[in-house]
Amino acid sequence: PNPATLVRLQHLFEVNGDKLSQIAKHMVAEMKKGLATDDSTLKMIPTHVVRRPKGDETGSYLALDLGGTNFRVCEVTLDGRGGTRVRQSKHTVTDDLKNGTGAALFDFFAECVKQFLLSDDQKEVTDKDLHTNEFKLGFTFSFAVNQVSINSGFLMGWNKGFSASDCVGKDAVVLLQDAFRRKRMNVSVTALVNDTTGTLVSHAYSAPDTYVGVILGTGTNAAYVEKIENITKYKKDPAGAKDMIINTEWGAFDDEMVVIPRTKYDHKVDRGTANAKSWTFEKLISGMYLGEICRYVLVDLVKTGEIYIAGGTKSKTLSVPHAFETAFMSRIERDHSLDLSDVRTVLEDLMHIPGTTLADRRLTKAICEMIGKRAARLSAAGIAAIVTKMNKLDGCTVGIDGSLFELYPHFSNRMRDAMHEILGFSAENIVLEQARDGSGQGAALIAALAGKLTA
Ligand code: BG6
Ligand code: GLC
Repeated sequence: PNPATLVRLQHLFEVNGDKLSQIAKHMVAEMKKGLATDDSTLKMIPTHVVRRPKGDETGSYLALDLGGTNFRVCEVTLDGRGGTRVRQSKHTVTDDLKNGTGAALFDFFAECVKQFLLSDDQKEVTDKDLHTNEFKLGFTFSFAVNQVSINSGFLMGWNKGFSASDCVGKDAVVLLQDAFRRKRMNVSVTALVNDTTGTLVSHAYSAPDTYVGVILGTGTNAAYVEKIENITKYKKDPAGAKDMIINTEWGAFDDEMVVIPRTKYDHKVDRGTANAKSWTFEKLISGMYLGEICRYVLVDLVKTGEIYIAGGTKSKTLSVPHAFETAFMSRIERDHSLDLSDVRTVLEDLMHIPGTTLADRRLTKAICEMIGKRAARLSAAGIAAIVTKMNKLDGCTVGIDGSLFELYPHFSNRMRDAMHEILGFSAENIVLEQARDGSGQGAALIAALAGKLTA
């Protein structure tokens, strides 16, 4: 590729070690501010989850999981010896549902639960049972809510492409409970949980040294264990508890744009979202947006004649928002062949850009690397900030779930490098561990312990 183009872009997307340290430092300051007042970009939401499960919990609980790639209904059975059995169904939430009425969205959830319960092949459940038996449910609702108790929380605003009407400002549990009532189902929602909290609780169930739960998927966020005496805005009686899980909602970090350098492409992506000017940290990092940043860069380079001279202007797909998926970046970064043949397949077959040259494909791959690397480094700065704030530099485990962390090549290595640049040798003490599908189990555990585990 043209070296001048490459250097220019590299410079735009680079976040060096010093800058990362500054970002982490700013995040620690914002965390402190958010623990004291509601007037901070970091919402630092008290989750009311104050204790960890012990492993002796028993019973069957339903869990709903909304906010990632799939909507899931789970039934989690806790065996009292630290083991769990999970039966689950996965569903796609269509764009029509995401952007329609709130009632239609929540009716869809209730209907999925109904079909799930009726289709249990281990035990026969009838329509009448749905009405007469009581089912307890933990709701993983992965959006920012103003959480007023363990089972109520008011939606602050949608993100990740949702904009259903009549939900913002409402209690997510009431919305769900009403939908069950409309279907005459006797389900009681005993816990409202963020995916980061669910991931933290369930990862800690098997790895007790876990103090942070992170999502790097469609969206991004982190939760961690904070001393209640530090949560000065929390005015309730914590019933003797010392610690509480805080949902940071770090997706909104630096929304006032004072520390992270942004490119014009980041601003374009932001302007194209339904929640412009908010959750802008998430828009630099998570799976919903990385491909879109990349697409804007490519569109620009086609205009200036720096890439795809033969076919760039012929592709209609390249100008379609979100047509260049983050999954394509993963594929491109994974292609180590000499002629970058899979990059060609992605560009020519999926993006309909004919006649790419090797230089085009190399430049495309380099752009994916820059954007993917920046995302990994910024999320590492977030984790470095949290472990610093917790005073856990001598060691702890971070449970991380989400498609980006799981599937994007080199993501965790890039995070690790950045953690070293920020924390030096202490980075060795921080274990970044893959958590899988934990938030359903976490929601069930929290539902099971709703009385004991919460304040
Ligand atoms: C899943 C969790 O494993 O990961 C969800 O159960 C979470 O609660 C999701 O939201 C995040 O990943 P993605 O890639 O599906 O957004
Ligand atoms: C968004 C939500 C947050 C969630 C994250 C990951 O940032 O606001 O609550 O945890 O996505 O799913």
